[in-house]
This record gives sequence, structure tokens and C-alpha cells, in this order.
Amino acid sequence: CGVDSVVSVPDFERYARDLLTDDAWYYYSTGADAEHSMHDNMAAFQRVRFRPRVFRNVAEPDTSTTILGVPSAIPIYVSPTARNGLGQPDGEVAVTRGAADAGIMQVVSHYASKSFDEIAAAAKEGQKIGWQVYLHPDRENSAKAIKHAVELGAASIWITADTAILGKRERERHMHTKREEIPHGTPMSRVKKTYATHDPSITWDDIAWVKSLAPGLPIIVKGIGAWEDVVLAKQYGADAVVLSNHGGRQLDTAASPLKTLYDLHQNRPDLLHKAGLEVYIDGGITRGTDVLKALCLGARAVGLGRPFIYAATGWGSEGVEKAVMILQEEMDIGMKLLGVTRLDQLGPEYLDCSKL
Ligand code: FNR
Repeated sequence: CGVDSVVSVPDFERYARDLLTDDAWYYYSTGADAEHSMHDNMAAFQRVRFRPRVFRNVAEPDTSTTILGVPSAIPIYVSPTARNGLGQPDGEVAVTRGAADAGIMQVVSHYASKSFDEIAAAAKEGQKIGWQVYLHPDRENSAKAIKHAVELGAASIWITADTAILGKRERERHMHTKREEIPHGTPMSRVKKTYATHDPSITWDDIAWVKSLAPGLPIIVKGIGAWEDVVLAKQYGADAVVLSNHGGRQLDTAASPLKTLYDLHQNRPDLLHKAGLEVYIDGGITRGTDVLKALCLGARAVGLGRPFIYAATGWGSEGVEKAVMILQEEMDIGMKLLGVTRLDQLGPEYLDCSKL
């Protein structure tokens, strides 16, 4: 059916379930262990309520912003997700095209189905694309990959910090165990392969090392789950941080990113807004109102992972563009009903966080 039948971002997931193979569906949709964090990421947004203000002339709200200096139609970017090609043949390239058409930034995973060469070649003139790296135990290997991304024009380097080891994705393992006859790619063989490509000895000093390989480019630390680590990220020279539990795929029962953001806001509000450090969150965001809540607590922008995979599964670049249109409409409505016209007017006074 046509993309017009989609009216909300969660719709994309329902359509994708019917289109994806079991391998793809379980890879994309699962979280770690009992998936408490994965579900709580979404639930946390419901526990925070709005305190809307009225009679404020909200005729013309503006959802646009900049992320690391890059203009963005809405304060949303595409979080890096591996293996977009499981869902549709164009993989990340479909997302690149959709992101360009929608005017938002894509961050490409180290484990993308398409090479960064193919993705860079598909980019529109002037389109800024971030590149995410997992540091490899063989640093020569990582150095080569980082330099290659820089040469191809990566606009920023995102170091993922929460994956010293891959989380235990139980629902995915159950699916594979039930279908043992599948000749290739049993879960454990993939898990072992992935262990081998992640360096568990990574430390804060590695930020400077990555910076030396990508001179002048912003470095983002992705996967922070406690506000104290935001302080360290700034000390060690990060330009931005992503408060994230990897979509609930790593440490189960880790706090939701919204709660981590709230803790940062309570403990170090000076690190939010114009302090030379941009703070983003990702995980469980599917609604314009979710985005507004994150911004009220001081996030500059938010990332969406699965929603863009599911949007591209059914409709390729058109799906990605449609997802952004939906979120933009929801933000526009949300801002008008909340009583603001610019994103920098959002603040904690618009929220009741007492049940968070
Ligand atoms: C991810 N994520 C991820 N993160 C990263 O830094 N590198 C990666 O290769 C991947 N791969 C990946 C694959 C899949 C299938 C998912 C669902 C997630 C994490 C991702 O960037 C982001 O943190 C979460 O997806 C955010 O949660 P939502 O938006 O999916 O709820």
C-alpha cells in the first residue's frame, strides 16, 4: 500500500513486521535480556506530563535548528544502526536519500550494509553525514577505517562507548535456536565474531586518539548512561554526547535516556545549553511530543534508530521522508498546544517530571 496510509511513526513498525524476514525482524526489534530497558525507554516519555500554557500567539512555530552547526529541519537525526540492508536492498543508501530530502542528518553505522564509499557517493551535494566507529582491538585497523571515512567527507565521528561487549539478545537467540536448521549465522557465531571486533580496553584517552585521526571534525561520545560521564566526556574533549542505552540492546535495566537527561539537568544544568557541548538522547522516541520533552530538559536534538529502519523497509527513501514529515507535524502541533513558537523557548517549566 501507499506511504499515505502511514499516519504515525509506530505504524511503520507494524507494516515492517509483515515485510521483514524473521532474521531481520528479530535482529532489529530485540533488546537485551528481558528487554526492560527497551520498553522503559518508551514508557519514560509517558511518565513525564506536559504543563501547557495558553493565549500566547502561537501562529508560526519554527521546528528548525542546527546540530553540530549543520542545519536541520527538525531536532532529529538518524541514529547509526547496523545492517540496514536486511530490510530492503538499498540499505543505508535509501536512508541517505531520504535524510537529504527531509533535511535531517544521517549517522552511518560502522557495520552498515553499504560501504561508506557507496553512501558518500549517494549523498546530495553539501549533505553532511556522520560516521560511527567501534574501536577495534587492532588499532591500526580502526585508524584505517577512521581515516577512510574522513577522506570520504564524514562530517563528524561518533564513538560508541556502550558496547565493550555485545548485549545478550535473548529473543533473537530463541528465534535462532528454534530454527537450528538454518545453515549460516547462528546467533552465537555472530556474537563471537562481534566480540572480536570490539575493544573492551577502550578508555577516555581514546577520544584524543580519534581526534588526532580526524582533525577539525566534531567527536561525539555515544552511549552515556550516567550524568557523571557527561562531565568526563567534556573534560576529555568531546564536542557532543548521546545519552543512550543503545535502544535497550546492551545493559538491561540501564536507566532510560530521558531519566539520564533529567539527572544531568538536576546535577549539572550548566552542561546543558550553550556550554560548548551538545547533548542528545536516543531510545524509544516515536512522537513529536517525545522530542519536545527531551528538548525541555535541555537536549539539543534526539536520534531515532529503529523507526527509520522500519520506514525504509516499506518505502525506502520515501518512507524516511514521510517519517520526518509526521514528526514535524506532531512537533508543530505540540509546540502550538504547549504555547511556544521556537525551540529555545522550551524549558523544564513545561514538564511535570514528578513520576519519572
Ligand atoms: C543499533 N544501534 C547501534 N548503535 C551504534 O552505535 N552502532 C551500531 O552499529 C548500532 N546498530 C544498531 C542496530 C539495530 C538494529 C538497532 C535497533 C540499534 C543503536 C542505535 O544507534 C540507537 O542507540 C538505538 O536504536 C536508539 O533506540 P531506538 O530509536 O531504536 O528505540
